[in-house]
Amino acid sequence: MGVRWVLGIESTAHTFSFGAVTEDREPIPSSSSIIRPTEGGIHPREAADHHSDNASRLLQGLLSTHSLSMNNLVGVAYSQGPGLGPCLRVGASVARAISTARNVPLIGVNHCVAHIEIGRTVCGCDDPVLLYVSGGNTQVITRLDGRYRVLGETMDIGIGNMLDKFARHHGYPFPGGPEIEKAALLHRESVKSPSIVGLELPYAVQGMDLAFSGLLNAADTLVEKGASFEAVCWSLQEHAFAASIEVAERALAHTGKKELLLGGGVACNERIREMSDIMCRERGGSAHWPPKMYCIDNGTMIALLGLLQLESIGPTELLDSGVDQMLRTDMTPVAWA
Ligand code: ATP
Ligand code: FE2
Repeated sequence: MGVRWVLGIESTAHTFSFGAVTEDREPIPSSSSIIRPTEGGIHPREAADHHSDNASRLLQGLLSTHSLSMNNLVGVAYSQGPGLGPCLRVGASVARAISTARNVPLIGVNHCVAHIEIGRTVCGCDDPVLLYVSGGNTQVITRLDGRYRVLGETMDIGIGNMLDKFARHHGYPFPGGPEIEKAALLHRESVKSPSIVGLELPYAVQGMDLAFSGLLNAADTLVEKGASFEAVCWSLQEHAFAASIEVAERALAHTGKKELLLGGGVACNERIREMSDIMCRERGGSAHWPPKMYCIDNGTMIALLGLLQLESIGPTELLDSGVDQMLRTDMTPVAWA
C-alpha cells in the first residue's frame, strides 16, 4: 500500500522545489534547486527557465529519496502567489499537468501563509505573533477573525532583499544573507571587549512599519568611506534585526499573545533567533523557529498548506487556478485553524 501523500510545488522566485506531506500531516523534506546568478539580481525569465529545466529531475529525486509512489498521491498543491509571474506559471503548469494526469485534486495556496503554517506545525505553536522575514517580505502578523492580519510591514524592500543587495554591492552573489551572517560573526569574534561598539546607521522603525532602503544606502556609504565590511555587516544586522523585533514586541504587547514564531529565509540567521529569544524571555514568553530547510522557500510548506486547505475548503477549480503575483497574506481565509 504505502503512505498516502500530498505533493507541494514551490516556484515563486529563485527556488524550484518539490516537497510532500503525509495524509496525517507529517512533513517530508523537499527536493529543491536555487538559481544563483553570477552577476545581478534574479531575472524572472531566467529563473522560470531554471525551474522548467529542473522539474523532472527534482520530482524524481523527491520520489526516490522518500520512497513515495505516485499511485498514493492524493493532491497536488502549488504556490499561487505572490511572486514573479513567469516563475509562478511554471509551478502552476506542472501542478495542473500532474493533477490532470493522475486525476487528483489541485490546490492553489498562498506562499506567505505556507511559511506560517509550516512553522506552526513543526514548532507546535497555537496562536503566535509571526515575524515573517524573507527576501521579498517583512511582516509582523497575527491571526484575528479568521485571517492572518498584517500589523506592520516594510514600506520599501524586504529585509532579505536589503541584505542580498548590500552583499551584491560588495561582491557576494545571491543569496547574500548567509555571507553577511558569516562576516558579522567574524567581526564579533575579532572584537576582544565584551561589549562591542556598533557603527551608526539609520533606524528602520516607522510606527508599526519598517523601511530598509535608507539602512542599505547608509551601510554602502560606510564601506565606501573605508569602514571594514565585516564591521558594517555586524552593525547592519544589529540595526535591521532590532527594528524588526521591536515591532514584533509591540505586536505581542498589543495582542497579549505569548509566542513569537519566526519564518522566511532570514529566520535562518542565528543572531535574529538569539535576539528574538532574549526579547521573548524578558517578557515571559517564548520564541520559536522551524529547522532551516523549512525557513527558506520549500515545497513541503506548500504541500502542508495544500492538505489543510483541501480538508477545510476543498480543491481549487481549474478555472480559478491562475496565478496572482500580488496575493497578500491577509487575502486568504484561514478556514483550518
Ligand atoms: P518570499 O517570497 O517569502 O519573500 P523569498 O523569495 O525571499 O520568499 P526565502 O527562501 O523565504 O525566499 O528567503 C530568502 C532570503 O533569505 C534571501 O534574502 C537570503 O539572503 C535570506 N537568508 C537566507 N539565509 C540567511 C541567513 N543565514 N541570514 C540572513 N538572511 C538569510
Ligand atoms: Fe518565501
